[in-house]
Amino acid sequence: MFTRFRRKRLNPVLRNLLQETHLRVDDFIYPLFIKSGEGIKKEVASMPGVFQMSIDEIIKECTELKTLGIYAIILFGIPDTKDSVGSDAMCDHGIIASSIRAIKKAHPDMFVVTDLCFCEYTDHGHCGVLDPILETVDNDITLSNLQKQAVVHAKAGADMIAPSGMMDGMITAIRKGLDGGGFSHIPIMSYSTKFASAYYGPFRDVAESSPSFGDRRSYQMNPANRKEAIMESLADEAEGADILMVKPALAYLDIVRDIKENSSLPLAVYNVSGEYSMLKMAALAGVIDYNRVMMETMIGFKRAGADIIISYHAKEVALLLNKK
Ligand code: PBG
Ligand code: ZN
Repeated sequence: MFTRFRRKRLNPVLRNLLQETHLRVDDFIYPLFIKSGEGIKKEVASMPGVFQMSIDEIIKECTELKTLGIYAIILFGIPDTKDSVGSDAMCDHGIIASSIRAIKKAHPDMFVVTDLCFCEYTDHGHCGVLDPILETVDNDITLSNLQKQAVVHAKAGADMIAPSGMMDGMITAIRKGLDGGGFSHIPIMSYSTKFASAYYGPFRDVAESSPSFGDRRSYQMNPANRKEAIMESLADEAEGADILMVKPALAYLDIVRDIKENSSLPLAVYNVSGEYSMLKMAALAGVIDYNRVMMETMIGFKRAGADIIISYHAKEVALLLNKK
């Protein structure tokens, strides 16, 4: 006997009619890593298909992204010089500010999001200015630097700011900085619930941002904590965040659902470097059907409650979605 379940799975058209969750190219933000120089497009061994690129190559990449229908990117800068505070990130002629200007000039229709943090820019690789006694990031000095960095990005033409450093009070500070600088129209997408995760490993090769000592556990969250995960995102909502985020994604889909149910704000997930590399390496080893596993992963994010997916797979996903 077929019952109300299997009788609705027999016909492919009916199966499509009954599909509850959908993926769209518009759901995606594609991460890009920018280095100074010209003609540079350097693949990183731990993330096949992901490149460090110079600005001219990024401009070409944006043309390709648009043909795929991807109009949202998030930028990470790899500066020539690092110092104890991450000065390059707060400089109008630093790698990120220069890139934003060049990209917006060539592609005014690209929606440019900037990752707002200091770990790529400091010589110690931590996400802000260090407190010499506590040997961790000083919260409040870092907040005032984040304000400066946010205004530098906005002045250069960033469309949205995405602070990823997990400092307490960062949204209040950045909002105040942006509003005071005449940028009240620029939304903040907060990395509101970000865990201290080993899944960031490959990213740190690409972004050259591994901490030179210790780890990030004094500012990023303990992966074991669910209630705190909800509180972190709700705090950022109360501080004025426009979009919330859970990061990483795959091992934290319960948290995605929790936050979706506790807040009406749009929610992003960051499908991080380690998640990407696991699928890539498994594909290269010939042990999975890469495209199917990738699409199943993406629909899982949407089903869990994500509105936006930040993913290194975005181009491959778009290619498949456009074929359909
Ligand atoms: C910077 C930042 C990180 C990622 C995004 N922004 C790394 C970190 O916290 O070390 C990780 C992204 C990824 O793994 O793909 N704070
Ligand atoms: Zn950081």
